[in-house]
Amino acid sequence: MFRTTDTEIAATALAAGHLAALPTETVYGLGARADLPRAVARVFAAKGRPADHPLIVHVADATALDRWADLVPLSARALAEAFWPGPLTVVVRRAAGVSDAVTGGQSTVAVRVPAHPIVRAVLARLGELVGDAAVGVAAPSANRFGRVSPTTADHVAAEFAGVLSGEDVLLDGGPSPVGVESTIVDLTGPAPIILRPGGIDRAAIEEVTGRRCAGVSAVRAPGTLASHYAPQARVRLVEPGRLNDAVDAAVAELELSDRARVGVLALVGEVTPTGVVRLSEPVDAGDYARVLYAALREADALGLACVLAVAPPADGIGAAVVDRLRRAAH
Ligand code: TXA
Ligand code: MG
Repeated sequence: MFRTTDTEIAATALAAGHLAALPTETVYGLGARADLPRAVARVFAAKGRPADHPLIVHVADATALDRWADLVPLSARALAEAFWPGPLTVVVRRAAGVSDAVTGGQSTVAVRVPAHPIVRAVLARLGELVGDAAVGVAAPSANRFGRVSPTTADHVAAEFAGVLSGEDVLLDGGPSPVGVESTIVDLTGPAPIILRPGGIDRAAIEEVTGRRCAGVSAVRAPGTLASHYAPQARVRLVEPGRLNDAVDAAVAELELSDRARVGVLALVGEVTPTGVVRLSEPVDAGDYARVLYAALREADALGLACVLAVAPPADGIGAAVVDRLRRAAH
């Protein structure tokens, strides 16, 4: 995989049907042209992802929605207007001709306009190169299946060392500013359904669509498997103020010889018990989201047996952090 900071190189590789790992504001994605099923198939192979798990199509702007979606609902237009470019993915009925390789054979397609200026530059340039401004890049998070999403180019390089070819590109755009994946909202039914919480919260979606979100989803969103986003270390959720007890319990239960095999992740102000590794001290929920995946990777790099996490308050992006911590702890 060829590492670069040059958007032209990434756009050229994508145009030619190679893969490009791209920085977005949420996490890094592993992209392929969505109109080239063979390129999309290579994304699945590289990730080790089951073929029936659909991918998100990333486009340059909201006008491209009509190319990928059929009968775009008004709620999708309103959300696009309010939050694109940004960390929101809409699931809508797919247009004729959208490949099964992208949608996993479903009748719907997931679309998002990312906000990161580097991926936006790549999408715009790719549109020029292929002569189609509505061109889409199908990109899941750039991690092997079931693992923690990458928020830096180093994370991506560690995931795919030896797996991708020299013609595939890793575009380094620095750390991802949001740090957790986009909110996915299914707009194919009478009420919006949040399939995955992320940077745009439920209250914002309800305000813009004027509809209450429905609770449970019948739609399949395999990234929402309970056991996703897990590091090797065990993750446990701990109530605020209970870290000391939790460390003692973990040391006893896992029969650890040393408290230094325990990592702690909690907002600043939560006191670090003696002898454990403080992985991070985020100042608020947004900061927590930014550091979360790097902290989980750090725990594995340090060979920790267990991570004790005190979640932030579950409003705004805190809801997405709580969701990922629960999955990591599963
Ligand atoms: O922030 C993000 O969304 C990142 C960046 C790279 O854009 N992408 C990402 O992709 O998280 P991925 O593949 O790791 O997660 C996409 C999720 C999966 O859970 C998938 O099942 C769901 O989107 N999805 C995709 N198409 C869908 C569809 N048609 N219906 C329901 N869920 C869908
Ligand atoms: Mg993923």
